Amino acid sequence: MFDRIARFYDRMNSVMTAGLHHRWRERAADLAALSPGGRALDVATGTGDLAIELARRVGPEGEIVGADFSEGMLALARDKSAGVRWELANALELPYPDGAFDAATVGFGARNFADLERGLAEMVRVVRPGGRVVILEITTPTRPPLSTFFSLWFDRVVPVLGRLAGEDQAYSYLPRSVRRFPGPAELGALLHRLGLRDVRWILTAGGIIALHSGTVR
Ligand SMILES: C[S@@+](CC[C@H](N)C(=O)[O-])C[C@H]1O[C@@H](n2cnc3c(N)ncnc32)[C@H](O)[C@@H]1O
Repeated sequence: MFDRIARFYDRMNSVMTAGLHHRWRERAADLAALSPGGRALDVATGTGDLAIELARRVGPEGEIVGADFSEGMLALARDKSAGVRWELANALELPYPDGAFDAATVGFGARNFADLERGLAEMVRVVRPGGRVVILEITTPTRPPLSTFFSLWFDRVVPVLGRLAGEDQAYSYLPRSVRRFPGPAELGALLHRLGLRDVRWILTAGGIIALHSGTVR
C-alpha cells in the first residue's frame, strides 16, 4: 500500500493538513534534543521529511538513518537528500545494535505498526541510556467542536480525497488506523512500561496531533 501511495504522499499531506505537517515534524525533531555530531534513527521514515529535519540538527559531523520497509517511499526520500542514510528495514526487527543512537523518532508511522508494542520496544532498544524517543502521531480529539470536525474530515473528506487520487483503500484505512491507536495517556503509560522515564506529551492542532517523548532509562 505504501509503495502505491508514495508518489502523491507528500501532496496529500499538504492538502490534508494545510501545510502544517512541516511544523509538527520540526517540533518532533526539537524533542529529540540532538546536538551537532549526534546520531539518530527515524523509523518508518517514508519520504524522509522528519529524518531531514533531524539531519539539520546534527550537522555534517552527525549521522541520521532513515529506515522504512517501503522501497517506493525510500526512493522519494533518496531524491530529497543525500545527507541521510536511507535504509530498507522493518521497524519490528530493527537491524541495529542496542544503544546505537542518541535518539529514535517516528512520524505518523507508529499507528501502522502491525505490533505497536514491539515496534516501540525496538525504538527504545536501539537508543542509548539518556537518549530520546519521540513519537509524532494523529490522535482522536475527544471534545467538541474538534471531535465533530475530526469525524467529518476523516470519515467523509479524506476518503473522498483518496478516491480522487485513485487510492480509496489507502485513505479509508487512514481513519481506521487512527481510531485503533491508543489515546495520549494510554500511549504514555505504554512508553513508561517499555523503559522510558520523563514521559511527556504535547497535544497540538486542537488535540488532533500528539507528540510523545521520553528518555531511555
Ligand atoms: C504514513 S507514512 C509516514 C511517513 C513519514 N514518517 C512521515 O512523517 O510522513 C507511514 C510509513 O510507515 C512505514 N511503515 C509502516 N510499518 C512499517 C514497518 N513495520 N517497518 C518499516 N516501515 C513501516 C510505511 O512504509 C510508510 O512509509
